[in-house]
Amino acid sequence: MSFKDLVRNSEEVLELINASERCLDVMNYTEHGLRHAMYVARVTEKILKKLGFDDYTAELGFIAGYMHDTGNSVNRNFHGHVSAVYAYYVLKELGMPLKDVNTVTAAIGNHEEETGTPVNAVSAALIIADKSDAHRTRVTQKYDPNEIHDRVNHAIKKNAVYINPEKRTISSRIYMNGTSSVMEYFEIYLSRINMSEKAAHLLGCTFKLYINDVLINSPKAVKGEKSVTEKGDQSLE
Ligand SMILES: [Fe+2]
Ligand SMILES: [Fe+2]
Repeated sequence: MSFKDLVRNSEEVLELINASERCLDVMNYTEHGLRHAMYVARVTEKILKKLGFDDYTAELGFIAGYMHDTGNSVNRNFHGHVSAVYAYYVLKELGMPLKDVNTVTAAIGNHEEETGTPVNAVSAALIIADKSDAHRTRVTQKYDPNEIHDRVNHAIKKNAVYINPEKRTISSRIYMNGTSSVMEYFEIYLSRINMSEKAAHLLGCTFKLYINDVLINSPKAVKGEKSVTEKGDQSLE
């Protein structure tokens, strides 16, 4: 059995994911349970595969994605660090070579924007996958219209990550309705977008964010119109 299947079938890891969800649910956080774990696992794996990494690296990506939030079962603060320690012991016990365990733990321990930096390909793919998971299904049953996270997530009807290996672009496409706004989206997600840009850079790619089919983070000069800063001129006067 592959390490991916061993982790996926582990009752212990599943309980850590469910325990994390129970804790964050009490704090009225957005959904962080099995759905989020599986979404991040699959998207991390897909990013690595599409960019030409070997199957085993993609498998490490799946595992990192699946286990990245288990530390929320202890505390929200530094949960990435705790998740990494959990993964270390689980993967070592399953017989994974230590070098690969360390790839996974470095990725997990660096996935939060407050303390993390993309440090390897698995880490970079995990960051992009995790930060892309904004969707109305993540709003718990206790939807609070006065809470910005609930409003923004509830407004997102659809999200998807597209990889173009030839052009080396990773595009996150989000479709929002009027429950919230692009301004509110950035109010809570700007640091996540910045981190995704850094992560894509480590993978030799450009990260593009589209909201309702409008490119948000990579402005280009309109045809025939020169950018005021094109020739090193920083003055707008
Ligand atoms: Fe997290
Ligand atoms: Fe997460």
